[in-house]
Parts: sequence; C-alpha cells; structure tokens
Amino acid sequence: MNLERRSFIKGSALLAAMSAVGGVRAAGIVNHEQKYHDRWHATQLPVPQKLLDSEPVLQCPAPDSMGVAFAVSDFALGYAEVADNEKMENAVQYACEGVPLAMLDDRVMRIRMTGLKPGTKYWYRVGASTLAFPVGYWKKPSPPEWSKVYSFTTCGENASSHFSVITDTHTNWKTFALLAQKLRAIGAPVTLWLGDASSHTETREELVKMFLKTETGGDYATTQPVFFINGNHDFRGRACLHSTEVMMGRLPSERSGRDWPLVRNFAVRQGEIALIGLDTGEDKPDFHPSAGGATRFEPYRTMQTAWLADQFKRPEIARAPYIVAFMHIPIFDSRPDANPGNTLENYAAWQKQGHDEWGPLLKQYGAQLVVAGHCHCYRYDEPTAERPWAQIVGGGPHMVADKFPTVIEGKVEDGELKVRVHNMFTGKVEATHAFKPRV
Ligand SMILES: [Fe+2]
Ligand SMILES: [Fe+2]
Repeated sequence: MNLERRSFIKGSALLAAMSAVGGVRAAGIVNHEQKYHDRWHATQLPVPQKLLDSEPVLQCPAPDSMGVAFAVSDFALGYAEVADNEKMENAVQYACEGVPLAMLDDRVMRIRMTGLKPGTKYWYRVGASTLAFPVGYWKKPSPPEWSKVYSFTTCGENASSHFSVITDTHTNWKTFALLAQKLRAIGAPVTLWLGDASSHTETREELVKMFLKTETGGDYATTQPVFFINGNHDFRGRACLHSTEVMMGRLPSERSGRDWPLVRNFAVRQGEIALIGLDTGEDKPDFHPSAGGATRFEPYRTMQTAWLADQFKRPEIARAPYIVAFMHIPIFDSRPDANPGNTLENYAAWQKQGHDEWGPLLKQYGAQLVVAGHCHCYRYDEPTAERPWAQIVGGGPHMVADKFPTVIEGKVEDGELKVRVHNMFTGKVEATHAFKPRV
C-alpha cells in the first residue's frame, strides 16, 4: 500500500468516525469514495508526444518574476521548472497561473514564475500534461512532456543596461524571421515589441500564430523575454478582447486597484535604464464612427497619466540614470499638418493627447528618449529646449529601401546610452544616437 492510499484511507476513517456520531451511514460513504479512489489510482496515462506545440515565449519580464506562454495540441496542464543551474538541480516547479483554478486550456499554457532574484540568470524548461477524468470531475495528469532547457536573466538595477526594439511586424513572416535573427545576434536580455503585431484578428488561433507558433518557427523569445505594447491594429477584430490569454498582462501585484485596467503598462529597471511602457491606443478618436461607441481610449490615456506620474516616485525609477519611454504611436511630429489623432479625417501620425499629458511628465523627470513605431518609417526627432526628450520612430514590416524595417538597440557604453538603429534592408547601422545620463 503506498503512502497516498494510506493517507486517503486515514482521512476516510476520520470521516467515518465523525459521521457515525451523527448517525450517518458512514460505511457506505467510505466504500463509495474508495472505489473512486482506486479507479483514479489505477489510471495511468503515457507521457504525451507532441503535446508541446510551440517554443516557449518569455514575456512580462520583471526583477522578481517572468511569464512564459506556449501552445499545446490538447487539453492540458502546463508547467515551468526553474533552477539556478544548467543541470536543473533543485528546480522549482510552477503550474499554469490562476486562482482558485489553474487555467487549464486546450491551446495556450500561461505560467508565471515568481519569487525570482533581480539581475539573475536562471535555467528553465516548460512542460505539459494531458488530463484524464477517471471518475467524473476527478482529474489525473499524465507525466509531463518537457521542452529542452533554456535560460533567461531577470531585470533589475544590477542587470545589463541593454535592450532591443522591434515594431509593426504585421505578420510579415519573412521580415519577422530577419528581426528574430537580429535579436539573437544583438543578444540583449530583453526585447520591446511596440505593437501592430497584427493588422486585424478575429480568432484566438490567429493570436496563437502571431505570438506563439509563428511561421518563422518561433524561437524569438526563448531566452530574450518580450515586453509587448499594443499598437492601434492590436485593437481591431474580436480576438483583441482575448489578447492577454496569449500574451499575458503584467503581474497584478505590480499595480494598484486604481490602475487595475492598465494591464500592459510597465516601469522596470534594466540596469541603468528605466524602461517605461505606455499604450497610445487607437489612431482615431473615440467619437469616430469606426469605434461604434465602444472605445474609451481618451480616459484610458488619462488613467496612464496618473500611473506615469506615480512611477517617477518609485525610488528605483527616480534614481535611474536613463529613462526611456516606449509606445506605439509617436507623441511628437514636427510637420504642422501631421494628423494628431483627434479628428475624423484619416488616422493619427502622432498622438496629441499623449504629447499633452505624458510629454510634460517626461520633461519634468528628465526622460531622455521616446521610442515609437506606427509610421513604418525610421525617423529621429532631435530634442529641443521646450521638448528636452528625443524621439526615435522605428520602421515597418516591408523590405524596401526607403521604408526599411528596423531593430533599435540601446546599450549603456562609456557613460552614455548609445542607441543604434539597425537597418534590416541594408544590414547596416543606419544611425547612432547618444544620450547623457540624467543629472
Ligand atoms: Fe503599423
Ligand atoms: Fe500603427
């Protein structure tokens, strides 16, 4: 008799004794439950084959936590195992997140690894079990199918001051493959993906193919976790309501009740750099007919203004030598006729509300740089006395000479934040911009 069976019977005997006091037919209950337990115990599932249906995609990096999602091919319970050594000795196991129920699913496993140390290298693998239901609702998992072992390094003030940025990928998989290759070559510990991952998504399976099981074969975020920021296109189609079921929102404990809906905003130290993520939303006003009365981007941006002001009061953000804000739509455009995103005509070239509400805070707290996308064309806006933060706009998905895709790399070197704009059409560095630390 194994321990599990012994402890079950011990519990059943206690139940019988308690029931007898009240005059209930205790023996009947014990036999009934024992039969169920025996059937549960006898059920043996094999280790699944090809239940894992994508590479792991690390996401929502933080100093003390890391998210990971991956696709599965059947109803499953997912796991991640994390260790401080490559041999995975004394690994800690996490299962699908969710309280009170783990989020079992037939397509996407989402696991949050918590309690991690800042700026620390970890090794991990993901796994999944199929589930049998030998007795009604009684679940029994199979032994897990495991991925190979990968590694990541958590964020934190002691982590390396290095990041990469991609944007406006629009499911152009030829370009995406080159971007993924470049991310690996640069080797930055984190990637910021500034949205327009899609053009329009109607089903969760489209989200799975955009983020987890990409046509490039995945492996763009097995070791370099992604901070994902919505673009305007990521709000189009029915599936956008479910995007956090595939690309997770930030850990809830990072934000207050007031900021509860701000699931993708982040302010995280990556070495000497404070990375701040903001969501510019759609490129049309809420009163535009295309919104159908169902969007609230204007109050959403104002909620982020209050959130942003509070981030600068956090000691680790306040003392950061460099502050870089990331968003999808630029919040500045020097052209007098550029569309500010608040009219019924066409669509935003820049987001005036973000400029008016976030711009002064970025100025007040000495942010050096805004990095955005949306325009599908690289651009650098020099800082001015009135607007002391610079703005870099990244390129789009098409492999053309005048509107080339970019990977933007930021790294602190020789006492400066050096930002290199890699031109993915020519394969050369298009421009380098340098920023002094805040005084
Ligand atoms: Fe775009
Ligand atoms: Fe866009």
